[in-house]
Amino acid sequence: MPGMGNSLRAAALLAFVVLSILVSLLISSVQQFGARISHFSNATVAGDEEEFASLRGALIYQLNERRKEIIPLLLPDHDDDENGLSGYSRHSLQHDQTLDSILDYNLWNEITHGSRKAHMDEMDCDSLVDMQAMEILGSGYTKLVVKVNLAGGQPVALKLVNEQGIDMGKCVEDFKDPRGCRELVSYKLKKEIVLLQRLRHPNVIKLKGHCAGDVGGRGGEGGRVAVILEQGNPLQMIQLLQSPWEDRFRVCLDLVRLLHFLSQSPLGSVTLLDFQPRQFVTVSGELKLTDLDDATAEETSCQMDADCTLQFPHRNFTLPCSTQGVCEGLNEKRNIYNAYRYFFTYLLPHQAPPGFTHLVDHIMNSTGELKADINQTLEAFEHILLLYKSGLHLDNLPPSIIRDYTVMRGMGTSGNTEYRCWPSYSQQGCVLSVHSGREAAYICNSHSQCNSFTLTGQKTWTGRLLASFRSSFSHLVPDGISEVYVKKTKAPETSTV
Ligand SMILES: Nc1ncnc2c1ncn2[C@@H]1O[C@H](COP(=O)(O)OP(=O)(O)O)[C@@H](O)[C@H]1O
Ligand SMILES: *[C@@H]1O[C@H](CO)[C@@H](O)[C@H](O)[C@H]1NC(C)=O
Ligand SMILES: *[C@@H]1O[C@H](CO)[C@@H](O)[C@H](O)[C@H]1NC(C)=O
Ligand SMILES: *[C@@H]1O[C@H](CO)[C@@H](O)[C@H](O)[C@H]1NC(C)=O
Ligand SMILES: *[C@@H]1O[C@H](CO)[C@@H](O)[C@H](O)[C@H]1NC(C)=O
Ligand SMILES: [Mg+2]
Repeated sequence: MPGMGNSLRAAALLAFVVLSILVSLLISSVQQFGARISHFSNATVAGDEEEFASLRGALIYQLNERRKEIIPLLLPDHDDDENGLSGYSRHSLQHDQTLDSILDYNLWNEITHGSRKAHMDEMDCDSLVDMQAMEILGSGYTKLVVKVNLAGGQPVALKLVNEQGIDMGKCVEDFKDPRGCRELVSYKLKKEIVLLQRLRHPNVIKLKGHCAGDVGGRGGEGGRVAVILEQGNPLQMIQLLQSPWEDRFRVCLDLVRLLHFLSQSPLGSVTLLDFQPRQFVTVSGELKLTDLDDATAEETSCQMDADCTLQFPHRNFTLPCSTQGVCEGLNEKRNIYNAYRYFFTYLLPHQAPPGFTHLVDHIMNSTGELKADINQTLEAFEHILLLYKSGLHLDNLPPSIIRDYTVMRGMGTSGNTEYRCWPSYSQQGCVLSVHSGREAAYICNSHSQCNSFTLTGQKTWTGRLLASFRSSFSHLVPDGISEVYVKKTKAPETSTV
Protein backbone atom coordinates (compact mmCIF):
# COMPACT_ATOMS: atom_id res chain seq x y z
CA MET A 1 0.00 0.00 0.00
CA PRO A 2 1.65 3.21 -1.10
CA GLY A 3 -0.41 5.34 1.30
CA MET A 4 0.77 3.36 4.32
CA GLY A 5 4.21 4.92 4.52
CA ASN A 6 2.63 8.34 4.38
CA SER A 7 0.19 7.52 7.16
CA LEU A 8 2.97 6.30 9.40
CA ARG A 9 4.94 9.38 8.57
CA ALA A 10 1.98 11.56 9.40
CA ALA A 11 1.42 9.75 12.68
CA ALA A 12 5.04 10.22 13.59
CA LEU A 13 4.76 13.84 12.57
CA LEU A 14 1.73 14.26 14.71
CA ALA A 15 3.58 12.85 17.67
CA PHE A 16 6.35 15.27 16.85
CA VAL A 17 4.03 18.26 16.73
CA VAL A 18 2.58 17.35 20.09
CA LEU A 19 6.06 16.89 21.43
CA SER A 20 7.44 20.14 20.11
CA ILE A 21 4.52 22.07 21.51
CA LEU A 22 5.12 20.50 24.87
CA VAL A 23 8.82 21.11 24.70
CA SER A 24 8.66 24.70 23.60
CA LEU A 25 5.85 25.89 25.80
CA LEU A 26 5.51 23.63 28.75
CA ILE A 27 8.96 22.37 29.59
CA SER A 28 8.68 22.68 33.32
CA SER A 29 5.36 20.89 33.56
CA VAL A 30 6.68 18.11 31.35
CA GLN A 31 9.55 17.63 33.70
CA GLN A 32 7.23 17.39 36.67
CA PHE A 33 5.07 15.02 34.69
CA GLY A 34 8.08 12.84 33.92
CA ALA A 35 9.18 12.82 37.51
CA ARG A 36 5.79 11.62 38.61
CA ILE A 37 5.87 8.73 36.16
CA SER A 38 9.31 7.49 37.20
CA HIS A 39 8.33 7.74 40.82
CA PHE A 40 5.29 5.69 40.06
CA SER A 41 7.19 2.96 38.19
CA ASN A 42 9.41 2.63 41.21
CA ALA A 43 6.39 2.24 43.43
CA THR A 44 5.10 -0.58 41.24
CA VAL A 45 8.41 -2.37 41.30
CA ALA A 46 8.41 -1.89 45.03
CA GLY A 47 5.39 -4.06 45.35
CA ASP A 48 1.83 -2.85 45.24
CA GLU A 49 0.77 -5.10 42.36
CA GLU A 50 -2.74 -5.40 43.72
CA GLU A 51 -3.38 -1.69 43.76
CA PHE A 52 -2.02 -1.48 40.24
CA ALA A 53 -4.41 -4.17 39.03
CA SER A 54 -7.40 -2.49 40.63
CA LEU A 55 -6.47 0.89 39.14
CA ARG A 56 -6.09 -0.77 35.75
CA GLY A 57 -9.53 -2.34 36.16
CA ALA A 58 -11.07 0.99 37.08
CA LEU A 59 -9.51 2.63 34.05
CA ILE A 60 -10.77 -0.09 31.73
CA TYR A 61 -14.21 0.40 33.23
CA GLN A 62 -14.00 4.12 32.45
CA LEU A 63 -12.85 3.39 28.89
CA ASN A 64 -15.87 1.16 28.37
CA GLU A 65 -18.21 3.79 29.78
CA ARG A 66 -16.85 6.37 27.33
CA ARG A 67 -17.25 3.93 24.47
CA LYS A 68 -20.85 3.25 25.43
CA GLU A 69 -21.52 6.96 25.39
CA ILE A 70 -20.47 7.15 21.74
CA ILE A 71 -22.21 4.06 20.39
CA PRO A 72 -25.76 5.48 20.42
CA LEU A 73 -24.51 8.43 18.39
CA LEU A 74 -23.39 6.04 15.67
CA LEU A 75 -26.91 4.98 14.83
CA PRO A 76 -27.75 5.90 11.27
CA ASP A 77 -30.23 8.75 10.80
CA HIS A 78 -33.91 7.91 11.06
CA ASP A 79 -35.50 10.96 9.58
CA ASP A 80 -38.75 9.19 8.79
CA ASP A 81 -38.65 6.90 11.79
CA GLU A 82 -42.12 7.03 13.27
CA ASN A 83 -42.03 4.23 15.82
CA GLY A 84 -39.19 5.68 17.83
CA LEU A 85 -36.56 3.07 17.09
CA SER A 86 -33.81 5.59 17.44
CA GLY A 87 -35.29 6.92 20.65
CA TYR A 88 -35.50 3.43 22.08
CA SER A 89 -32.03 2.57 20.94
CA ARG A 90 -30.53 5.67 22.43
CA HIS A 91 -31.76 4.65 25.84
CA SER A 92 -31.12 0.96 26.08
CA LEU A 93 -28.82 0.11 23.28
CA GLN A 94 -25.81 -0.69 25.42
CA HIS A 95 -27.23 -4.06 26.40
CA ASP A 96 -28.85 -4.98 23.15
CA GLN A 97 -26.69 -7.08 20.84
CA THR A 98 -29.26 -7.23 18.06
CA LEU A 99 -28.87 -3.57 17.34
CA ASP A 100 -25.20 -3.98 16.55
CA SER A 101 -26.06 -4.69 12.95
CA ILE A 102 -27.56 -1.28 12.32
CA LEU A 103 -24.83 0.74 13.97
CA ASP A 104 -22.65 2.79 11.72
CA TYR A 105 -19.55 0.75 12.48
CA ASN A 106 -17.80 2.04 9.42
CA LEU A 107 -17.66 5.38 11.13
CA TRP A 108 -16.57 3.79 14.36
CA ASN A 109 -13.83 1.78 12.69
CA GLU A 110 -12.69 4.80 10.84
CA ILE A 111 -12.38 6.72 14.05
CA THR A 112 -10.76 3.93 16.02
CA HIS A 113 -8.40 2.48 13.45
CA GLY A 114 -6.71 5.18 11.48
CA SER A 115 -8.61 6.89 8.79
CA ARG A 116 -10.06 5.89 5.52
CA LYS A 117 -11.27 8.21 2.81
CA ALA A 118 -14.96 7.69 3.42
CA HIS A 119 -16.05 10.92 1.84
CA MET A 120 -14.25 12.48 -1.04
CA ASP A 121 -13.68 15.79 0.74
CA GLU A 122 -12.36 14.30 3.95
CA MET A 123 -8.82 14.89 5.03
CA ASP A 124 -6.90 12.17 6.78
CA CYS A 125 -3.44 11.45 8.15
CA ASP A 126 -1.94 11.90 4.68
CA SER A 127 -3.18 15.49 4.64
CA LEU A 128 -1.02 16.22 7.67
CA VAL A 129 2.24 15.19 6.03
CA ASP A 130 4.62 18.17 5.92
CA MET A 131 2.23 20.44 7.77
CA GLN A 132 3.51 23.46 9.68
CA ALA A 133 2.32 24.14 13.22
CA MET A 134 2.07 27.92 13.62
CA GLU A 135 0.76 28.69 17.09
CA ILE A 136 -1.69 27.60 19.76
CA LEU A 137 -5.20 28.86 19.11
CA GLY A 138 -6.66 27.81 22.40
CA SER A 139 -6.90 25.13 25.04
CA GLY A 140 -9.41 23.89 27.54
CA TYR A 141 -9.78 21.22 30.22
CA THR A 142 -9.59 18.50 27.60
CA LYS A 143 -8.24 19.71 24.30
CA LEU A 144 -5.47 21.73 22.72
CA VAL A 145 -6.08 23.51 19.42
CA VAL A 146 -3.16 24.33 17.15
CA LYS A 147 -3.12 26.60 14.12
CA VAL A 148 -1.61 24.65 11.26
CA ASN A 149 -0.77 25.26 7.62
CA LEU A 150 -1.06 22.12 5.52
CA ALA A 151 1.52 21.25 2.89
CA GLY A 152 -0.57 22.95 0.18
CA GLY A 153 -0.73 26.11 2.29
CA GLN A 154 -4.30 25.56 3.46
CA PRO A 155 -4.87 26.84 7.01
CA VAL A 156 -6.67 24.49 9.41
CA ALA A 157 -7.13 24.02 13.13
CA LEU A 158 -5.90 20.78 14.65
CA LYS A 159 -7.56 19.56 17.85
CA LEU A 160 -5.53 17.24 20.06
CA VAL A 161 -5.63 15.90 23.59
CA ASN A 162 -4.39 18.61 25.95
CA GLU A 163 -1.57 16.78 27.73
CA GLN A 164 -1.44 19.58 30.29
CA GLY A 165 -5.21 19.85 30.71
CA ILE A 166 -7.25 19.22 33.84
CA ASP A 167 -8.73 16.04 32.31
CA MET A 168 -5.35 14.42 31.71
CA GLY A 169 -4.02 15.65 35.03
CA LYS A 170 -6.91 14.26 37.05
CA CYS A 171 -6.84 10.96 35.20
CA VAL A 172 -3.11 10.43 35.69
CA GLU A 173 -3.50 11.29 39.35
CA ASP A 174 -6.33 8.76 39.69
CA PHE A 175 -5.00 5.93 37.53
CA LYS A 176 -1.25 6.53 37.30
CA ASP A 177 -1.25 5.50 33.66
CA PRO A 178 -0.48 8.28 31.15
CA ARG A 179 -0.96 6.07 28.11
CA GLY A 180 -4.30 4.71 29.29
CA CYS A 181 -5.36 8.22 30.25
CA ARG A 182 -4.50 9.60 26.84
CA GLU A 183 -6.74 6.93 25.40
CA LEU A 184 -9.51 7.79 27.84
CA VAL A 185 -9.33 11.49 27.07
CA SER A 186 -9.16 10.70 23.34
CA TYR A 187 -12.68 9.35 23.60
CA LYS A 188 -13.88 12.91 24.02
CA LEU A 189 -12.25 13.76 20.68
CA LYS A 190 -13.81 10.67 19.12
CA LYS A 191 -17.20 11.62 20.46
CA GLU A 192 -16.71 15.10 19.06
CA ILE A 193 -15.84 13.69 15.61
CA VAL A 194 -19.05 11.67 15.58
CA LEU A 195 -21.11 14.66 16.70
CA LEU A 196 -19.49 16.93 14.12
CA GLN A 197 -20.37 14.39 11.44
CA ARG A 198 -23.93 14.03 12.64
CA LEU A 199 -24.62 17.69 13.38
CA ARG A 200 -23.45 19.46 10.26
CA HIS A 201 -24.77 23.04 10.19
CA PRO A 202 -23.49 26.48 9.11
CA ASN A 203 -23.10 27.38 12.79
CA VAL A 204 -21.17 24.27 13.76
CA ILE A 205 -17.45 24.25 13.00
CA LYS A 206 -16.72 22.37 9.80
CA LEU A 207 -15.07 18.99 10.23
CA LYS A 208 -12.48 18.59 7.50
CA GLY A 209 -11.28 15.18 8.56
CA HIS A 210 -9.28 13.45 11.22
CA CYS A 211 -6.20 11.38 11.80
CA ALA A 212 -6.17 8.57 14.31
CA GLY A 213 -2.54 7.76 14.95
CA ASP A 214 -3.27 4.13 15.57
CA VAL A 215 -0.20 2.46 14.16
CA GLY A 216 -1.08 -1.06 15.25
CA GLY A 217 0.67 -0.84 18.56
CA ARG A 218 3.96 0.17 16.99
CA GLY A 219 5.64 2.79 19.10
CA GLY A 220 2.77 2.48 21.57
CA GLU A 221 1.06 5.52 20.15
CA GLY A 222 -2.37 3.89 19.96
CA GLY A 223 -5.25 6.21 20.78
CA ARG A 224 -3.71 9.42 19.48
CA VAL A 225 -6.34 11.38 17.63
CA ALA A 226 -6.17 14.66 15.77
CA VAL A 227 -9.31 16.36 14.50
CA ILE A 228 -8.86 18.56 11.44
CA LEU A 229 -11.18 21.56 11.55
CA GLU A 230 -11.91 24.76 9.79
CA GLN A 231 -9.88 27.52 11.44
CA GLY A 232 -11.71 30.13 13.47
CA ASN A 233 -11.03 32.95 15.88
CA PRO A 234 -11.80 32.25 19.52
CA LEU A 235 -14.78 34.35 20.57
CA GLN A 236 -13.61 37.45 22.43
CA MET A 237 -16.50 38.80 24.47
CA ILE A 238 -14.64 41.98 25.44
CA GLN A 239 -13.92 42.78 21.81
CA LEU A 240 -17.47 41.93 20.84
CA LEU A 241 -18.85 44.27 23.51
CA GLN A 242 -17.04 47.11 21.75
CA SER A 243 -18.27 46.28 18.26
CA PRO A 244 -21.31 47.67 16.43
CA TRP A 245 -24.73 46.37 17.41
CA GLU A 246 -25.07 44.82 13.96
CA ASP A 247 -22.14 42.45 14.65
CA ARG A 248 -23.38 41.62 18.13
CA PHE A 249 -26.84 40.93 16.79
CA ARG A 250 -25.28 38.61 14.21
CA VAL A 251 -23.64 36.50 16.93
CA CYS A 252 -26.96 36.20 18.78
CA LEU A 253 -28.90 35.39 15.60
CA ASP A 254 -26.34 32.73 14.63
CA LEU A 255 -26.63 31.24 18.09
CA VAL A 256 -30.43 31.09 17.85
CA ARG A 257 -30.23 29.47 14.41
CA LEU A 258 -27.86 26.89 15.87
CA LEU A 259 -30.13 26.18 18.84
CA HIS A 260 -33.12 25.85 16.52
CA PHE A 261 -31.21 23.23 14.54
CA LEU A 262 -30.05 21.42 17.69
CA SER A 263 -33.61 21.24 19.03
CA GLN A 264 -34.62 18.98 16.15
CA SER A 265 -31.31 17.50 15.06
CA PRO A 266 -30.85 14.02 13.58
CA LEU A 267 -29.93 12.90 17.11
CA GLY A 268 -33.03 14.37 18.74
CA SER A 269 -33.11 17.51 20.88
CA VAL A 270 -29.48 18.22 21.70
CA THR A 271 -28.44 20.29 24.71
CA LEU A 272 -25.04 21.77 25.45
CA LEU A 273 -24.09 20.92 29.01
CA ASP A 274 -21.02 23.16 28.99
CA PHE A 275 -22.48 26.28 27.38
CA GLN A 276 -19.92 29.07 27.49
CA PRO A 277 -18.68 31.68 25.01
CA ARG A 278 -15.32 29.91 24.95
CA GLN A 279 -16.92 26.90 23.24
CA PHE A 280 -17.54 29.05 20.15
CA VAL A 281 -15.36 30.64 17.50
CA THR A 282 -16.11 33.01 14.65
CA VAL A 283 -15.26 32.41 11.01
CA SER A 284 -15.53 35.65 8.98
CA GLY A 285 -17.86 37.06 11.61
CA GLU A 286 -20.10 34.00 11.66
CA LEU A 287 -20.55 32.17 14.98
CA LYS A 288 -19.64 28.47 15.07
CA LEU A 289 -19.82 25.95 17.87
CA THR A 290 -16.52 24.10 18.25
CA ASP A 291 -16.69 22.25 21.57
CA LEU A 292 -19.24 19.47 21.29
CA ASP A 293 -17.95 16.84 23.63
CA ASP A 294 -20.44 17.90 26.30
CA ALA A 295 -23.40 17.84 23.94
CA THR A 296 -26.07 15.26 24.69
CA ALA A 297 -29.41 14.22 23.24
CA GLU A 298 -30.43 12.31 26.34
CA GLU A 299 -33.89 13.12 27.66
CA THR A 300 -34.57 13.46 31.37
CA SER A 301 -37.15 10.98 32.56
CA CYS A 302 -39.62 12.00 35.23
CA GLN A 303 -42.67 11.05 37.25
CA MET A 304 -43.86 14.51 38.12
CA ASP A 305 -43.15 18.12 37.21
CA ALA A 306 -40.90 18.51 40.24
CA ASP A 307 -38.46 16.07 38.59
CA CYS A 308 -38.07 18.54 35.73
CA THR A 309 -36.18 21.43 37.25
CA LEU A 310 -33.58 23.53 35.52
CA GLN A 311 -31.23 25.12 38.01
CA PHE A 312 -29.17 28.21 37.34
CA PRO A 313 -27.28 30.40 39.80
CA HIS A 314 -29.95 33.09 39.94
CA ARG A 315 -32.98 31.34 38.64
CA ASN A 316 -34.74 27.97 38.83
CA PHE A 317 -37.41 26.72 36.45
CA THR A 318 -39.79 23.78 36.62
CA LEU A 319 -40.96 22.26 33.34
CA PRO A 320 -43.86 19.88 32.69
CA CYS A 321 -43.39 16.11 32.91
CA SER A 322 -45.07 14.60 29.86
CA THR A 323 -47.42 11.61 29.92
CA GLN A 324 -44.58 9.59 28.33
CA GLY A 325 -42.52 10.35 31.44
CA VAL A 326 -39.93 12.71 29.95
CA CYS A 327 -39.32 16.35 30.79
CA GLU A 328 -40.82 18.22 27.89
CA GLY A 329 -38.47 20.64 26.15
CA LEU A 330 -35.87 20.49 28.91
CA ASN A 331 -32.90 20.28 26.52
CA GLU A 332 -34.19 23.11 24.38
CA LYS A 333 -35.00 25.34 27.34
CA ARG A 334 -31.63 24.81 28.96
CA ASN A 335 -30.00 26.04 25.75
CA ILE A 336 -32.30 29.07 25.52
CA TYR A 337 -31.65 30.21 29.07
CA ASN A 338 -27.90 29.78 28.64
CA ALA A 339 -28.06 31.81 25.42
CA TYR A 340 -29.90 34.48 27.40
CA ARG A 341 -27.49 34.59 30.31
CA TYR A 342 -24.17 34.24 28.47
CA PHE A 343 -24.96 36.06 25.21
CA PHE A 344 -28.14 38.10 24.97
CA THR A 345 -27.74 40.02 28.24
CA TYR A 346 -24.30 41.22 27.19
CA LEU A 347 -24.71 41.65 23.46
CA LEU A 348 -28.28 42.50 22.55
CA PRO A 349 -29.85 45.46 24.44
CA HIS A 350 -26.85 47.77 24.50
CA GLN A 351 -27.07 50.38 21.67
CA ALA A 352 -29.84 48.58 19.81
CA PRO A 353 -31.28 50.84 17.08
CA PRO A 354 -34.15 52.90 18.57
CA GLY A 355 -36.67 51.23 16.25
CA PHE A 356 -35.85 47.84 17.77
CA THR A 357 -35.82 48.50 21.49
CA HIS A 358 -39.30 47.11 22.11
CA LEU A 359 -38.57 44.00 20.01
CA VAL A 360 -35.26 43.45 21.81
CA ASP A 361 -36.93 43.96 25.19
CA HIS A 362 -39.49 41.38 24.23
CA ILE A 363 -36.80 38.84 23.29
CA MET A 364 -34.91 39.54 26.51
CA ASN A 365 -38.00 38.97 28.59
CA SER A 366 -39.32 35.90 26.79
CA THR A 367 -35.94 34.13 26.81
CA GLY A 368 -35.01 35.27 30.33
CA GLU A 369 -38.33 33.94 31.62
CA LEU A 370 -38.30 30.88 29.29
CA LYS A 371 -41.70 31.90 27.99
CA ALA A 372 -40.81 31.32 24.33
CA ASP A 373 -39.64 28.12 22.69
CA ILE A 374 -36.79 28.14 20.19
CA ASN A 375 -39.12 28.42 17.19
CA GLN A 376 -40.70 31.59 18.53
CA THR A 377 -37.30 32.96 19.49
CA LEU A 378 -35.93 32.32 16.02
CA GLU A 379 -38.99 34.00 14.50
CA ALA A 380 -38.44 37.10 16.64
CA PHE A 381 -34.79 37.29 15.55
CA GLU A 382 -35.53 36.75 11.86
CA HIS A 383 -38.20 39.44 12.09
CA ILE A 384 -35.66 41.95 13.37
CA LEU A 385 -33.23 40.93 10.61
CA LEU A 386 -35.90 41.47 7.99
CA LEU A 387 -36.76 44.92 9.32
CA TYR A 388 -33.10 45.82 9.58
CA LYS A 389 -32.35 44.78 5.97
CA SER A 390 -35.40 46.49 4.54
CA GLY A 391 -35.05 49.67 6.57
CA LEU A 392 -38.73 49.46 7.54
CA HIS A 393 -37.84 50.39 11.11
CA LEU A 394 -36.77 53.82 9.80
CA ASP A 395 -40.17 54.77 8.42
CA ASN A 396 -40.55 57.57 10.93
CA LEU A 397 -37.48 59.44 9.68
CA PRO A 398 -38.66 62.49 7.73
CA PRO A 399 -37.87 62.01 4.00
CA SER A 400 -37.08 65.69 3.77
CA ILE A 401 -33.86 65.52 5.81
CA ILE A 402 -31.93 64.32 2.75
CA ARG A 403 -32.79 67.64 1.06
CA ASP A 404 -30.46 69.39 3.52
CA TYR A 405 -27.60 67.80 1.55
CA THR A 406 -26.07 68.22 -1.88
CA VAL A 407 -25.14 64.87 -3.42
CA MET A 408 -22.24 64.24 -5.80
CA ARG A 409 -22.21 60.80 -7.38
CA GLY A 410 -19.08 59.01 -8.53
CA MET A 411 -17.02 61.11 -6.15
CA GLY A 412 -14.94 60.59 -3.04
CA THR A 413 -13.06 63.06 -0.87
CA SER A 414 -9.48 63.74 0.15
CA GLY A 415 -7.89 65.96 2.77
CA ASN A 416 -10.54 64.97 5.27
CA THR A 417 -10.91 66.38 8.75
CA GLU A 418 -12.16 63.31 10.60
CA TYR A 419 -13.81 62.98 13.95
CA ARG A 420 -14.31 59.85 16.02
CA CYS A 421 -17.60 58.26 16.90
CA TRP A 422 -18.55 55.07 18.67
CA PRO A 423 -18.83 52.24 17.74
CA SER A 424 -17.05 52.99 14.48
CA TYR A 425 -16.02 50.43 11.87
CA SER A 426 -12.79 52.40 11.49
CA GLN A 427 -10.31 53.47 14.18
CA GLN A 428 -9.39 56.72 12.41
CA GLY A 429 -12.75 58.27 11.66
CA CYS A 430 -16.46 57.80 12.06
CA VAL A 431 -17.72 54.92 9.90
CA LEU A 432 -21.17 53.53 10.58
CA SER A 433 -23.60 51.32 8.70
CA VAL A 434 -26.77 52.90 7.29
CA HIS A 435 -29.70 51.72 5.27
CA SER A 436 -29.73 54.73 2.96
CA GLY A 437 -28.61 58.31 2.44
CA ARG A 438 -31.63 59.34 4.47
CA GLU A 439 -30.52 57.43 7.57
CA ALA A 440 -26.97 58.77 7.08
CA ALA A 441 -28.34 62.33 6.87
CA TYR A 442 -30.25 61.72 10.10
CA ILE A 443 -27.05 60.52 11.81
CA CYS A 444 -25.00 63.42 10.41
CA ASN A 445 -27.58 65.88 11.72
CA SER A 446 -27.24 64.35 15.17
CA HIS A 447 -23.42 64.72 15.26
CA SER A 448 -22.42 68.32 15.91
CA GLN A 449 -19.06 67.87 14.10
CA CYS A 450 -20.61 66.37 10.98
CA ASN A 451 -20.81 68.42 7.78
CA SER A 452 -20.50 65.76 5.11
CA PHE A 453 -20.54 62.02 4.60
CA THR A 454 -19.71 59.49 1.91
CA LEU A 455 -21.57 56.32 1.02
CA THR A 456 -18.70 54.10 -0.04
CA GLY A 457 -20.56 51.24 -1.67
CA GLN A 458 -19.03 48.82 0.86
CA LYS A 459 -21.60 46.68 2.63
CA THR A 460 -21.91 44.94 5.98
CA TRP A 461 -23.13 41.34 6.41
CA THR A 462 -26.78 42.49 6.36
CA GLY A 463 -26.25 44.44 3.14
CA ARG A 464 -26.35 47.82 4.85
CA LEU A 465 -24.04 50.49 3.46
CA LEU A 466 -20.93 51.78 5.17
CA ALA A 467 -21.02 55.55 5.50
CA SER A 468 -18.08 57.64 6.61
CA PHE A 469 -18.88 60.89 8.38
CA ARG A 470 -16.50 63.85 8.68
CA SER A 471 -16.20 67.51 9.60
CA SER A 472 -14.74 68.68 6.32
CA PHE A 473 -12.61 67.77 3.31
CA SER A 474 -10.39 69.71 0.92
CA HIS A 475 -10.93 68.00 -2.45
CA LEU A 476 -13.43 65.95 -4.33
CA VAL A 477 -11.85 63.10 -6.28
CA PRO A 478 -13.48 60.84 -8.88
CA ASP A 479 -14.29 57.54 -7.18
CA GLY A 480 -16.41 54.86 -8.87
CA ILE A 481 -19.57 54.12 -6.97
CA SER A 482 -19.06 56.44 -4.00
CA GLU A 483 -21.44 59.29 -3.28
CA VAL A 484 -20.51 62.39 -1.33
CA TYR A 485 -23.19 64.29 0.58
CA VAL A 486 -22.47 67.83 1.78
CA LYS A 487 -24.64 69.78 4.18
CA LYS A 488 -26.18 72.80 2.44
CA THR A 489 -26.76 75.00 5.43
CA LYS A 490 -23.27 74.79 6.93
CA ALA A 491 -21.31 74.10 3.74
CA PRO A 492 -17.63 73.35 4.54
CA GLU A 493 -14.91 75.24 2.69
CA THR A 494 -14.07 73.12 -0.28
CA SER A 495 -12.12 74.00 -3.38
CA THR A 496 -14.53 72.47 -5.84
CA VAL A 497 -18.03 73.29 -4.59
N1 LIG B 1 -11.58 25.58 14.99
C1 LIG B 1 -11.01 26.40 15.88
N2 LIG B 1 -10.37 27.52 15.49
C2 LIG B 1 -9.81 28.34 16.41
N3 LIG B 1 -9.83 28.14 17.72
C3 LIG B 1 -10.45 27.05 18.19
C4 LIG B 1 -11.08 26.13 17.30
N4 LIG B 1 -11.62 25.15 18.05
C5 LIG B 1 -11.36 25.45 19.33
N5 LIG B 1 -10.65 26.58 19.43
C6 LIG B 1 -10.17 27.21 20.68
O1 LIG B 1 -9.60 26.19 21.49
C7 LIG B 1 -10.21 26.17 22.79
C8 LIG B 1 -10.28 24.75 23.29
O2 LIG B 1 -11.11 23.95 22.45
P1 LIG B 1 -12.32 23.12 23.06
O3 LIG B 1 -12.84 22.21 22.03
O4 LIG B 1 -13.29 24.06 23.69
O5 LIG B 1 -11.56 22.26 24.17
P2 LIG B 1 -12.06 21.82 25.64
O6 LIG B 1 -13.03 20.69 25.43
O7 LIG B 1 -10.82 21.38 26.33
O8 LIG B 1 -12.73 23.00 26.28
C9 LIG B 1 -11.57 26.83 22.58
O9 LIG B 1 -11.97 27.47 23.77
C10 LIG B 1 -11.33 27.80 21.46
O10 LIG B 1 -10.90 29.05 21.96
C1 LIG C 1 13.77 3.63 42.65
O1 LIG C 1 14.35 2.36 42.95
C2 LIG C 1 15.77 2.35 42.84
C3 LIG C 1 16.26 0.93 43.03
O2 LIG C 1 15.32 0.17 43.75
C4 LIG C 1 16.36 3.30 43.90
O3 LIG C 1 17.77 3.33 43.82
C5 LIG C 1 15.80 4.70 43.65
O4 LIG C 1 16.24 5.59 44.67
C6 LIG C 1 14.27 4.68 43.63
N1 LIG C 1 13.76 6.00 43.24
C7 LIG C 1 12.75 6.58 43.84
C8 LIG C 1 12.33 7.91 43.28
O5 LIG C 1 12.12 6.09 44.77
C1 LIG D 1 -32.85 26.76 43.21
O1 LIG D 1 -33.08 25.49 43.75
C2 LIG D 1 -32.08 25.04 44.67
C3 LIG D 1 -32.36 23.61 45.04
O2 LIG D 1 -33.71 23.40 45.30
C4 LIG D 1 -32.08 25.99 45.86
O3 LIG D 1 -31.08 25.60 46.78
C5 LIG D 1 -31.80 27.41 45.39
O4 LIG D 1 -31.87 28.32 46.46
C6 LIG D 1 -32.78 27.83 44.30
N1 LIG D 1 -32.33 29.09 43.75
C7 LIG D 1 -33.15 30.09 43.46
C8 LIG D 1 -32.53 31.32 42.90
O5 LIG D 1 -34.36 30.03 43.63
C1 LIG E 1 -40.06 40.27 32.32
O1 LIG E 1 -41.09 41.21 32.49
C2 LIG E 1 -41.71 41.17 33.77
C3 LIG E 1 -42.89 42.14 33.76
O2 LIG E 1 -42.50 43.37 33.26
C4 LIG E 1 -40.67 41.52 34.83
O3 LIG E 1 -41.24 41.44 36.10
C5 LIG E 1 -39.52 40.52 34.74
O4 LIG E 1 -38.50 40.87 35.66
C6 LIG E 1 -38.94 40.50 33.34
N1 LIG E 1 -37.95 39.43 33.27
C7 LIG E 1 -36.79 39.52 32.64
C8 LIG E 1 -35.91 38.34 32.69
O5 LIG E 1 -36.42 40.52 32.04
C1 LIG F 1 -40.71 24.24 15.24
O1 LIG F 1 -40.47 24.37 13.84
C2 LIG F 1 -40.23 23.15 13.17
C3 LIG F 1 -39.94 23.47 11.71
O2 LIG F 1 -38.92 24.41 11.61
C4 LIG F 1 -41.43 22.21 13.30
O3 LIG F 1 -41.12 20.98 12.70
C5 LIG F 1 -41.74 22.01 14.77
O4 LIG F 1 -42.89 21.24 14.93
C6 LIG F 1 -41.93 23.35 15.48
N1 LIG F 1 -42.10 23.13 16.90
C7 LIG F 1 -43.04 23.71 17.60
C8 LIG F 1 -43.09 23.38 19.05
O5 LIG F 1 -43.85 24.47 17.12
MG1 LIG G 1 -14.14 24.07 25.53
